[in-house]
Amino acid sequence: MQDVFVKDIEKYLGQEVRLKGWVRNIRHSGKLLFIILRDGTGEIQTVAFQPDLGEEAFETAKRLTLESSVIICGIPKLHPKQEGVYELQVTQVQPLQIADVYPIGKKEHGPDFLLSNRHLWIRSQKQWALLRIRHTVYYAICNYLNEHNFIRFDSPILTPNACEGTTTLFELDYFDEGKAYLSQSGQLYLETGIMSFGRVYDFGPVFRAERSKTRKHLTEFWMMDAEAAFVEHDENMQIQEDLIRYVIRTVLSECALELQILERNTEALKAADAPFKRMTHYEAVEVLRQKGSDITHDKDLGAQDEVLLTEDSEVPVFVERWPKEIKAFYMKRDPLNPNLVLGDDLIAPEGFGELIGGSQREDDYELLLSRMQAENMPIDDYQWFLDLRKYGSVPHSGFGVGLERLVAWLSGTPHIRETIPFPRMIYRIYP
Ligand code: 4AD
Ligand code: MG
Repeated sequence: MQDVFVKDIEKYLGQEVRLKGWVRNIRHSGKLLFIILRDGTGEIQTVAFQPDLGEEAFETAKRLTLESSVIICGIPKLHPKQEGVYELQVTQVQPLQIADVYPIGKKEHGPDFLLSNRHLWIRSQKQWALLRIRHTVYYAICNYLNEHNFIRFDSPILTPNACEGTTTLFELDYFDEGKAYLSQSGQLYLETGIMSFGRVYDFGPVFRAERSKTRKHLTEFWMMDAEAAFVEHDENMQIQEDLIRYVIRTVLSECALELQILERNTEALKAADAPFKRMTHYEAVEVLRQKGSDITHDKDLGAQDEVLLTEDSEVPVFVERWPKEIKAFYMKRDPLNPNLVLGDDLIAPEGFGELIGGSQREDDYELLLSRMQAENMPIDDYQWFLDLRKYGSVPHSGFGVGLERLVAWLSGTPHIRETIPFPRMIYRIYP
């Protein structure tokens, strides 16, 4: 007998097959037993008829509980009433382990309870759908980059220096070498990679000791950093836009079922696959003040500002050319205005906030050095980074995509803690 996955069941109509999985639901009525079996690839209703199984096997099968593991054999049939739906006419049920009373039920549970049971919660249908979308987004990003001449260039997690400022650094003792830090972004290392490969990316966990308890912050999250030689500010934004639009289309075409389970408004996603808006930080502040925000021209956007700024937009919005004081040391000075840098933030519509941070990089040795000195940075620790401006410096740009933020938006999930298997937050490290 053939072992098959639920997702492939339609290929085996009328042929006896074997499925292996867990009991999502079970009920019986007289001589009929209905088990919804999930196997990771999907769910199927199975129907067992007592005379087909024999009395003893039928009674054993009836003792299965929610989330018990089981092997079920049977013949796939078209559902008598629902088009495109299959069910299994059961010939054999082999329980593997009868599960204890399962703690997650149909009733509403609080987020704390669910997070403490995250190891089990991931089996729930919505979590299954969400984490499958994460998988699709991850590979869509890699596919896009691979097809556009970017080479994967992995950056280290243990680093001797900060990338994004010292306020959110996780620090540890590194043998006799002093302090080491968990990477906040692989960007600085990627800048070395472009001088060898032209275009590179990394994709992995990064760490920020974020004190903020918001629905958009994790202390460990996944970032894709991309970096490209000979790409300047405008082209940098164009690459970001093309990448995100490619990811939207991939999720729409490959995750229709997942989006439906999550009740995601797919019209909003389709509408977002159109040219993105661009405005300068100066213009954004003007718009926001008109909408009642008390933001000023020297300030970063607050979470509420990001919501206000995109409330009338179907597409993501780039905010570019930022005051240098509120952006990282490596951003290139705007040739049109020395008080600004050529940075861009990409803000998602529908209130999901910043998805990407990017910029053209300062490629002039003296300008970069003086900016670092002005910020009292330990120059010796960054000599390798400064070297890049001494040995064949070129204009270059890059950006970092926050995977969980992007998945939260695409799936319509308000809190990013559900978009990663095991979220790490300031107040939670278990399980
Ligand atoms: O804007 P950020 O800080 O940019 C950088 O780290 C650059 N070095 C990236 C680069 O140019 N290669 O972070 C990039 C993205 C943000 O736009 C956001 O989506 C996400 O990372 N992010 C977080 N996601 C979850 N939790 C946090 N605490 C995050 N901080 C940033
Ligand atoms: Mg940012």
